[in-house]
Amino acid sequence: MKPVILSGIQPSGKINIGHYLGALKNWVLLQEQYECLFMVVDLHSITVRQDPKVLRERVLSFVALYLACGIDPDRSTIFIQSSVLEHAQLGWILNCHTGLGELQRMTQFKDKSSRQESVQAGLLNYPTLMAADILLYGTALVPVGEDQKQHLELTRDLAIRMNHLYGEDLFVVPEPFIPQVGARIMSLQQPERKMSKSDPLENASLNLLDSQSMIEKKCKSAVTDSGSVIRFDPANQPGVSNLLTIQSAISGVSINDLVSNYSGKMYGHLKVDTARIVNELLNPIRERYETLRSSEDELLELMAKHAIRARKKAGATLRRVQDALGFVPV
Ligand code: TYM
Repeated sequence: MKPVILSGIQPSGKINIGHYLGALKNWVLLQEQYECLFMVVDLHSITVRQDPKVLRERVLSFVALYLACGIDPDRSTIFIQSSVLEHAQLGWILNCHTGLGELQRMTQFKDKSSRQESVQAGLLNYPTLMAADILLYGTALVPVGEDQKQHLELTRDLAIRMNHLYGEDLFVVPEPFIPQVGARIMSLQQPERKMSKSDPLENASLNLLDSQSMIEKKCKSAVTDSGSVIRFDPANQPGVSNLLTIQSAISGVSINDLVSNYSGKMYGHLKVDTARIVNELLNPIRERYETLRSSEDELLELMAKHAIRARKKAGATLRRVQDALGFVPV
């Protein structure tokens, strides 16, 4: 049996090049060697308020984008998290084994809650649901960007704790899979902050479904600095370094080689080249997306089929956990 890979993206905004380079790109590659499951994590997205109509549209749009990026439904399972009820059920069980302090220490919770007027309990419990997603399928590797590392550590702690309490083979203890280049793509407008779905600055993110001209405009207006030498120095030249990282992660050319090719060139060249490389990546994805998104019935049919596959696996794990905890099967 192949080892299991699982990951997901929240439908809480537009998928950007950070999500692609940090996660999706690796998902596509890993399909070759692993048994893969990829989710649209709608339960996680409602930890902050969502407009129901927009959410519905985004979930379907994300499924179409996963396919357009190269996730192959014949090899991988693609499903909507809320269609597999076991996630919420195991999430509850894990909540009952997680310390309040452990959740309050999560940097994403601290960061997100500090930016909100009223904080919902779901935002605090977000990592236990993520642990349930992972542990339900015996996941060995979780391909994510760097910002998810701490959530993965908590998932590992929970798996070890549960195994210790209820039997050593209850859960597989998963490992994170974080790319060397592209694990943390920064905002084009504030390059000291990560590129994020919730960024209100219009030109901060390169979204996968942006038009060619939008990508050009955003790259052109990317914040750099007052210098003129193209160097990779994230601490002092975060904007320039971010553009180099984006290019390197897409093209596979090392950052050192890129820097030597830019010797004697201006920031303008770097921006124009970045836009071109991003557009070369996105043009075929956008085209495939349009075709896939236009046949909604087919997407829904596929989601129903794949939810059945996922439920079968998740159901078996949940039953084992319930037995281990002493729940009466009726
Ligand atoms: P989300 O939706 O915030 O992000 C989806 C994935 O994209 C990565 N990512 C980035 N990578 C590089 N640079 C960036 N600027 C950037 N922004 C985001 C994230 O690390 C992530 O891999 N909690 C997860 C969703 C989730 C999940 C799971 C993931 C729910 N259950 C189970 C793996 C396994 C999240 O917030 O993703």
